[in-house]
Amino acid sequence: MDVIPPANPVFNKEMEDAAINALRNERFILGESVNKFEEEFAIYTGTDYAVSVSSGTNALHLAQIAADLPVGGEVITVASSYIATANSILHANGTPVFCDINDEYIIDVNQITGKISRRTKGIMPVHLYGHPADIDEINDIANKNDLFVIEDCAQSHGTLYKGKMTGTLSDMGCFSFYSTKNMTVCGDGGMVTTNNEKLAEKIKLLRNHGQYPKDVHTIVGYTARLNTVNAAIGRVQLKYLPKWIESRRNASKRYCRLLSDVDDISLPPGDTEIKKPSYHLFEIKTKKRDELLKYLKEKGIICLIHYPTPIPYQPIYKKLFGYKEGSFPKSEELSKQAMDLPMYPELNYGQINYISEKIHEFFNR
Ligand SMILES: Cc1ncc(COP(=O)(O)O)c(C=O)c1O
Repeated sequence: MDVIPPANPVFNKEMEDAAINALRNERFILGESVNKFEEEFAIYTGTDYAVSVSSGTNALHLAQIAADLPVGGEVITVASSYIATANSILHANGTPVFCDINDEYIIDVNQITGKISRRTKGIMPVHLYGHPADIDEINDIANKNDLFVIEDCAQSHGTLYKGKMTGTLSDMGCFSFYSTKNMTVCGDGGMVTTNNEKLAEKIKLLRNHGQYPKDVHTIVGYTARLNTVNAAIGRVQLKYLPKWIESRRNASKRYCRLLSDVDDISLPPGDTEIKKPSYHLFEIKTKKRDELLKYLKEKGIICLIHYPTPIPYQPIYKKLFGYKEGSFPKSEELSKQAMDLPMYPELNYGQINYISEKIHEFFNR
C-alpha cells in the first residue's frame, strides 16, 4: 500500500487550462473570473452576495471592520480553532474573548452569555472540522444583545444546518480556500458571503484600498483581492465541490462503521436531522493519540493533529492576555487526544479498510 497522506488537493487538467486561459486573456487583478467565481459561490451557498478576498484570515478581518467593530470591542469566539480565528479579531483592533467547546468540537453556547460585557460587539462561531455550530442559539443570544455574528466557515464549505449552508446563517460567513480545505484556489484565497448588500459593498471597498470610483478613496482599505488566476481555478473546483462533499460523507460513514467496535477511540458526531457535517477533517479522540499516530505513520498512514495547543495557551495569547492552563478543559482535552485520520474525496474504500485494520491491530496488540 502506498503512503496515505492526510489530505490530497486536486489539481487536474481542467484547472490547469482554466488557469492558463485566465492568465492569457484576463486582467491579473479583478478579471472576469473573479466576478464569475463570486456569482457561482453565492449560488452554491444560497446567499445574495459573495465577495472574494485574498485569504480566509482577511475574510474574517474585513468582515469585522465591515461590521463596525470599534477599537477594543470584544468578539466572543472559541478556544479550539486555528489561530487565524482569534488573530483576525486582533487585526481588526478588537479583543477576542474565548469560550470552551462542547463534545461536538464546537463552541459551547451555554458559556456565551456569561462572557458578554459592555464592550462585546460580536460572536464568531467556528464550524470546526466541518461540524456546524449551534447557530440558532447563537443568533438568539446575538439578537437579544445587539451583537453581530460572523461564521468562520474556513472548514465548512458544504456543511448544512437545517438544510441551509453554513455561511448563510448569520450576518456574514467567511471561507478559506487554503490548499487543504474542502476546495482550494491552489493558493491563498477567501470569500465573504452575506445577504446584506451594504456589507458586501463595504467588503469590496475594503479589499481594494477603499477605492470607488477609480482614484477616489473613501475609507482606509487594504490590498486583499483574490487573484484572477486563483478565481479561475476556484470556479472549476467549485463545480466538483458537491461531489467531493458527498465522498467525504461516505468516507466518514465507512470509517464510523469500521471503527465503531474500538472502545479506546471516540468517533466524531454523525449526521442528525439538523446537522449534516462536511467532514473537512475526520477527527477521532483517544488517550493513546501519540502512540497511535506513530504506529500508523510506520504503516504508511499519515495523520495530523488539529490543533496541539488551544489558542489561549499559545505563547502570544498568554503574553497578551495572561491565559492559564485549566481555563478551557474541553479544548485542552481535545488538543491532547484528537487526531485526524486521512480524509479527502479520492480516499478509496480499500485505503479506509487498511487504515481501520491498522487501528484495530494497534489496540489489539
Ligand atoms: C478555522 C479557520 N479559520 C481561519 C482560517 C484562515 O484561513 P486562511 O489560511 O485562508 O487565512 C483557517 C485556515 O487556515 C481555519 O482553519
